[in-house]
Amino acid sequence: MSRIAYVNGQYVPHAHAMIGIEDRGYQFADGVYEVCEVRGGRLVDERRHMARLDRSLSELRIGHPMSPAALGMVMRETIRRNRVRDGIVYLQVTRGEMKRDFPFPPEGTRPSIVVTSRSHNNARNEKAAEAGIAVVTMPDIRWQRVDIKSVALLPNVLAKQQAREQGAKEAWLVDGEGRVTEGASSNAWIVTRDGVLVTRPLQTGILPGITRSVVLDLIAREGLGFEERPFTVQEAYEAREAFVTSASQLVMPVVQIDGRPVGNGAPGLVASALRRDYHSQAEFI
Ligand code: PDD
Repeated sequence: MSRIAYVNGQYVPHAHAMIGIEDRGYQFADGVYEVCEVRGGRLVDERRHMARLDRSLSELRIGHPMSPAALGMVMRETIRRNRVRDGIVYLQVTRGEMKRDFPFPPEGTRPSIVVTSRSHNNARNEKAAEAGIAVVTMPDIRWQRVDIKSVALLPNVLAKQQAREQGAKEAWLVDGEGRVTEGASSNAWIVTRDGVLVTRPLQTGILPGITRSVVLDLIAREGLGFEERPFTVQEAYEAREAFVTSASQLVMPVVQIDGRPVGNGAPGLVASALRRDYHSQAEFI
């Protein structure tokens, strides 16, 4: 079965899914995106993802390609046409197509929109979570507006590649003061020796992860000890547990940082419990 993409008003097989060479996403990475989880054929946390998309668009002054209701329908139809039960839906909106020129194109230039969806292998993900992943730390060389979910991901690409070449699954990016900002495509967490969950506050060089926000609600619901503050690489080395959160990996235990085992080198109890309970807190509509 060929995969189907929604591109500027039409559902087309991927082989025929085209965006113009003068699209500003292609020319300038002038666009934003979202990745939502699909579970049992349903969208997870759609409202939070749509609120973040709104914010990304308005921070960059890119127009809405369509109403939120229409976008919800397009996402569902893309999931349906691709017969995805468990996986992700990806959507990207750019400032549209116009003769290459740095300032914004004239008023009325239509934003471009692409929606795709793909299945993931549940069994493989669960196996990965049972084993946990390795991360490596490296300097965070990104721009200062990483709170916007922009498609300008070159530093993230380089970080992931470096992680892969070092045998790790994720890169943890580190600010000038030796504190972890976040993963190349996830938010970073530790559990201290005293059992306190720690993650970096918003507005200090991280993307406001939707999975992060749902995990925060879960932590509050369960009454777990929590501190929202930056943590250093050294603290992470000494942590009892570590994990990352993202829509595609959910809560993924980290068992090794820069080649050193975290805790006893196996996925921690807190991370595993948060993963197990995640969908009891997530919203399905
Ligand atoms: N990445 N931080 C960064 C830099 C990210 O790229 C992501 C998500 C997150 C976690 O956000 P959320 O919980 O909303 O997925 C944090 C997506 C999954 C991606 O680029 O594929």
